[in-house]
Amino acid sequence: VAEIFGLRLPIISAPMGMVAGGRLAAAVSRAGGLGLIGAGYEGAAWIEREFRHADGTGVGIGFITWDLAASPDRLEAALACRPTAVMLSFGDPSSFVGRIRDSGARLILQVQTLEAAERAAALEPDLIVAQGTEAGGHGGARALLPFLPAVVDRVSPIPVAAAGGISDGRGIVASFALGAAAVLIGTRFYAAEESLAATAAKARIVAGSGDATIRTRIFDIVRRLPWPKAFTGRVLRNAFTERWHGKEDELENELDRENLRYADAVQTGNFGTAAVWAGEGIDLISAVAPAQEIVERLVHETERTMARLWL
Ligand SMILES: Cc1cc2nc3c(=O)[nH]c(=O)nc-3n(C[C@H](O)[C@H](O)[C@H](O)COP(=O)(O)O)c2cc1C
Repeated sequence: VAEIFGLRLPIISAPMGMVAGGRLAAAVSRAGGLGLIGAGYEGAAWIEREFRHADGTGVGIGFITWDLAASPDRLEAALACRPTAVMLSFGDPSSFVGRIRDSGARLILQVQTLEAAERAAALEPDLIVAQGTEAGGHGGARALLPFLPAVVDRVSPIPVAAAGGISDGRGIVASFALGAAAVLIGTRFYAAEESLAATAAKARIVAGSGDATIRTRIFDIVRRLPWPKAFTGRVLRNAFTERWHGKEDELENELDRENLRYADAVQTGNFGTAAVWAGEGIDLISAVAPAQEIVERLVHETERTMARLWL
């Protein structure tokens, strides 16, 4: 992977929608990894601004595939900014693959099932990300420990990156042991100084425990986002999940009121209601730090863990 992407370190920061902007992605790339901007549901103006914030440092960008399909012009806006890589996740990527490859950008496809891994491999991407259910944000149901080596076997010789719950060097070494060629890390970088997440949301990540995360559809329902049913989002539990998780039908019935209340909570930074997306790896996150420091610590911990294993 280091060769294909020209990286010093096989560490990729995840394209967290509206959280991973150009400053975070650039900091990770400058530290020797690959930083990805997360386009989320944002339009061309946001994408162009975040590439400007990367200030000429080579970064990539990730899209939510089903959402990109609804407004595909955003891909052209991104490619005009000359990303080093484009990552697609959550939907059928086949109609975008040719255009991405023609642009000279590397192609990364994230998958949540073995079946999707096989379909992705047929498109011959530069890298496949095997995303475990431990992951923060949207994802599937497979646990990374058995899923990762199965994907590695199935898509060989295409390199595979591990994603989901990786927050320190032990997780990186475990991923390598299971056959990964790289790691893709989200939540750990959510709590980076450069991330666009609210300060109060980062504080919840630092204080929170993996015990208190759940996968749910209620935040997609309340935002009226047409997420395919196969994908749920992992969040920190809060008053909103206590009220509505498991009562999805009831929430649909109260949608007019709850949609307004939710929008207001997002606006005012009320995270008792608004979602804080987080993976199970938050037990291992104890402080907000600059992204460069996070990368350096990950490398140091990886080396220390390797040395311990060889003793
Ligand atoms: C806040 C947040 C937003 C995310 N948004 C996206 C997204 O827009 N597109 C995407 O492909 N993955 C997204 N992800 C998932 C990541 O790509 C990645 O699989 C995940 O962060 C890895 O697990 P970890 O968070 O435990 O490190 C998001 C994750 C988080 C935490």
